[in-house]
Amino acid sequence: MLKTLTAAAVSALLFAASAASAATLTAEATLKADQPGPKIDKYVYGQFSEHLGAGIYEGVWVGENSKIPNVRGIRTDVVNALKEIKVPLIRWPGGCFADEYHWRDGIGPRDQRPSRKNNWWGGSPESNHFGTHEFFDFAEQVGADAYVSINVGSGDPTEMREWIEYMTSPGEDTLAQERRKNGRDKPFKVPVIGIGNETWGCGGGMTPEYYSNEYRRFNEFFHKGTDNPALRIAVGPSGGDENWTEVVMKQIGNRRMEGLSLHYYTLPTGNWDKKGASINFDKQAWADTFAQTLKMEDFIVKHSAIMDKHDPEKKVALYVDEWGTWYDVEPGTNPGHLYQLNTLRDGVLAAVNFNFFHKHADRVKMTAVAQTINVLQAMILTKDDKILLTPTYYAFKMYVPFQDSTSLPLDLKAPTFTFGDKTLPAINASAAKGKDGKTYIGLANMNPDDEVKLTVDLGTLKATKVSGEVLTAPKMDARNEMGQAATVVPVSYKGGKITGNKLTLSLPAKSVVVVKLD
Ligand code: AHR
Repeated sequence: MLKTLTAAAVSALLFAASAASAATLTAEATLKADQPGPKIDKYVYGQFSEHLGAGIYEGVWVGENSKIPNVRGIRTDVVNALKEIKVPLIRWPGGCFADEYHWRDGIGPRDQRPSRKNNWWGGSPESNHFGTHEFFDFAEQVGADAYVSINVGSGDPTEMREWIEYMTSPGEDTLAQERRKNGRDKPFKVPVIGIGNETWGCGGGMTPEYYSNEYRRFNEFFHKGTDNPALRIAVGPSGGDENWTEVVMKQIGNRRMEGLSLHYYTLPTGNWDKKGASINFDKQAWADTFAQTLKMEDFIVKHSAIMDKHDPEKKVALYVDEWGTWYDVEPGTNPGHLYQLNTLRDGVLAAVNFNFFHKHADRVKMTAVAQTINVLQAMILTKDDKILLTPTYYAFKMYVPFQDSTSLPLDLKAPTFTFGDKTLPAINASAAKGKDGKTYIGLANMNPDDEVKLTVDLGTLKATKVSGEVLTAPKMDARNEMGQAATVVPVSYKGGKITGNKLTLSLPAKSVVVVKLD
């Protein structure tokens, strides 16, 4: 009889059985507060904002004459929300868009800028009203540093050099004067520059050997120095492409770059043709999504090992400058605009990834979630003059104390849970000493049914008080709705207790918890 059941039916039976037996799982961890690890760079909480769909136009730029409150055309509600999560870095203008972008299109009087076609993203019109000056205005209003991606795929080293000079020259040269004429006296601060984007794909379809040569050519005209101190980020692998890392690390070497990028998106199915829905998903899709996102740690470990071989001094950082969930677009929206809804699943998944980034802070010095507003795993969704803050936004908010903290080893023995063919750790976690001297632990419970009771041996840490916040909801796809009071928001956490040097934490099913120890 069992033989005749389909795989879906077997899974359904298993789900029913597991839902009926919701339980409390137990886990143990040991905190080694006396063995501080590397700094968790604030850039780990970076954002990616591309000219894609309503990411920039509508999401950031509404124009000076808009009824939506704005400062010099940049919407105030969005800036205020991003300030709250202390966005440290914004990567712009792409993405695939960057390799068709010509910076001269985006300077000078707006009404004279050319209109182009955004070939990568739905063929939508690109007014160029948001260009270099508007981007820096946005970043400065938010209080974030700039990460500018250079066009390698269809540009050339001269175009790169001139853009960098335009942005950074303090002198009297023609490009600096042109910048002044366009309204900016002092040079812009450009601490990070990407030399290409996905040159293995939309950025030029190159082999790693070809790109390494191109990188070296562009680098000769980069003129890293006083006026342009930017960190140089080379295009790194997609997911698990170890050959790309091997070739690029060997051929570019650790004196010509400060960072190597890694792009990895979480698709529930792992299939680009049918990625999975952002809402109304079942437990199998929940488990599949987390199984996919857990690969992030494998990729970090594998690429770091190759980097260790070529760069044992760890001069080159791993920049995970595109990550996040990628679902089928919301039905009825332009498929090229990558608009998807954002649920509790996205918030928990963000925390899982933060914990990986913290654990590997010796190499991972920066990441950029894709993307800030209205695109993929967004922090903010907008509709006319309204905005909605997503569960992902709140996960970022809860983890703010980890920015520029010092990582602390946390040895965790996590219980597992099984759905269908997937067996996953129920929780992951990371710990750090914040800039305020307090100890923080961030935790994600990936189990959609069961609470986990975690006992942490605090070792030498003397703490008597535990406080914090928890993000959870009754449904896996709970989300905040436009125009309604947010319901998926962090609330005060009451599930912690310290007895002697033992901390116990009750982690609700499908939740994010961040605690502070005093
Ligand atoms: O974030 C969307 C796209 O994903 C980016 O433009 C590209 O770099 C990646 O493939």
